Amino acid sequence: IVAAFQPKVMAGKRILITAGPTFEAIDPVRGITNLSSGKMGYAVARAAREAGAEVTLISGPTALATPFGVQRIDVQSARQMMEAVNAAIDGQHVFIAVAAVADWRVKNPSAQKVKKTGDAAPTLEFEENPDILATIAARTTLAGHPYCVGFAAESENLVAFGAAKRERKGIPLLVGNIGHHTFGADDNTIILFDEHGHTILPRADKLTLARQLISEISKRTNKHSL
Ligand code: CTP
Ligand code: CA
Repeated sequence: IVAAFQPKVMAGKRILITAGPTFEAIDPVRGITNLSSGKMGYAVARAAREAGAEVTLISGPTALATPFGVQRIDVQSARQMMEAVNAAIDGQHVFIAVAAVADWRVKNPSAQKVKKTGDAAPTLEFEENPDILATIAARTTLAGHPYCVGFAAESENLVAFGAAKRERKGIPLLVGNIGHHTFGADDNTIILFDEHGHTILPRADKLTLARQLISEISKRTNKHSL
């Protein structure tokens, strides 16, 4: 279906989306990241905009073009993503966390490029990053209490892990997929977890799935009358 014929089910809604990987510096030229391409998050941003929403996309490093009509804010690290989300969250109706956020950052990054010395290899220490989705889901002020949607990439046991993760994060809707099947791919299979159980959306390209997801979110948020 072309965009012009998408029903404007999100007209008047503001939607904040995170997408892509994060990048955690080791030194000025190296870092730790993951295989997220950003394709799913960008497809969700495009689908949300097609549905009439005002969309802000906070993106880690990707090679993708900004979807038409979407406001994009680029960040690198998880902490920068957290700051950008905090700065943009007030007044948002929906928050969709699609980003593959690094769980840990390097605790002892070097200000200079680490050089080979002929001695032992360098040792990295890690510390935990803020959980952006859990932070936003825990907010209780009216201005900053959006309907929160999470994504989970698991490597196994998706149905059990997805349901548990939704509860642990304290969110109404969680989208699960199998990490090594989705990262970088153009299509995907996803499972929606909500308080009633789970629903499988059969394999399709990411834009088709993103449009279905936006439609599911709109049904649920209309019920909860934002
Ligand atoms: N997420 C986040 N901030 C983090 C980690 C995760 O906002 N620091 C969000 C992701 O964007 C995703 C959801 O939380 O929407 C689930 O991410 P996932 O990595 O599957 O869950 P974790 O709670 O980090 O658990 P684990 O990686 O141990 O399975
Ligand atoms: Ca994680």
